[in-house]
Amino acid sequence: MTNDCGELLPDPIPDHPLLNGRVEIGRGENTIVLDGDVVDGQARVFKVLSSPTDYAYYTAPDRPIGPHFPILYADHGVAGRSSRGFPFYIVEVEKLYPLPGSGNAAEIATKISTSYFDACRMWRNLAQDMGRIALHHLVVTPTMGWDDAVQQSLKALEVFSNEYGALPDLIKADNLMMRIDGTLVFSDPVFME
Ligand SMILES: Nc1ncnc2c1ncn2[C@@H]1O[C@H](COP(=O)(O)OP(=O)(O)O)[C@@H](O)[C@H]1O
Ligand SMILES: [Mg+2]
Repeated sequence: MTNDCGELLPDPIPDHPLLNGRVEIGRGENTIVLDGDVVDGQARVFKVLSSPTDYAYYTAPDRPIGPHFPILYADHGVAGRSSRGFPFYIVEVEKLYPLPGSGNAAEIATKISTSYFDACRMWRNLAQDMGRIALHHLVVTPTMGWDDAVQQSLKALEVFSNEYGALPDLIKADNLMMRIDGTLVFSDPVFME
């Protein structure tokens, strides 16, 4: 029900002055994450994106913004081309952390994932549109246990998905991450149609 085929992006880190010598700290189906610098006390990472949808999610002027969305520090442009067939884009964003096993952010994340998964089962006969309808279901079904900002973020994700032809991916645990201060962040909530 997700885009998770378990296949990590096989590409080497692109040769680029900003990336050379940096440590890889994460990798997914479409993205390589390298540890960045600490600037004014805030740790950053470089995300090397091979999905135009992810690039839009991080850089589009009308991308979702708010307490639950990742902060972009710089858009460093293109660095070659990935085996996925699209350009590699380098963005510099705030460093985020895996959700712990318990706590407020983890509880909200679990609630979002399970509600989304249940809605997907409810709408699974809609095939390709299932994910977007399931997200809409979450948006119009106020749920006990998360606040207005979370509800508004889900709404903003819905608007972005519709605008950019993106599909939600709210089931995979590591697509929801956390700031040091415990705020839940939608790190990688969409993928390409
Ligand atoms: N801002 C970040 N800070 C630290 N690690 C990150 C950050 N974003 C992603 N990661 C790590 O890198 C992995 C891949 O990133 P993700 O954005 O999920 O890529 P993909 O689009 O390939 O799924 C994540 O599972 C997570 O462990
Ligand atoms: Mg991911």
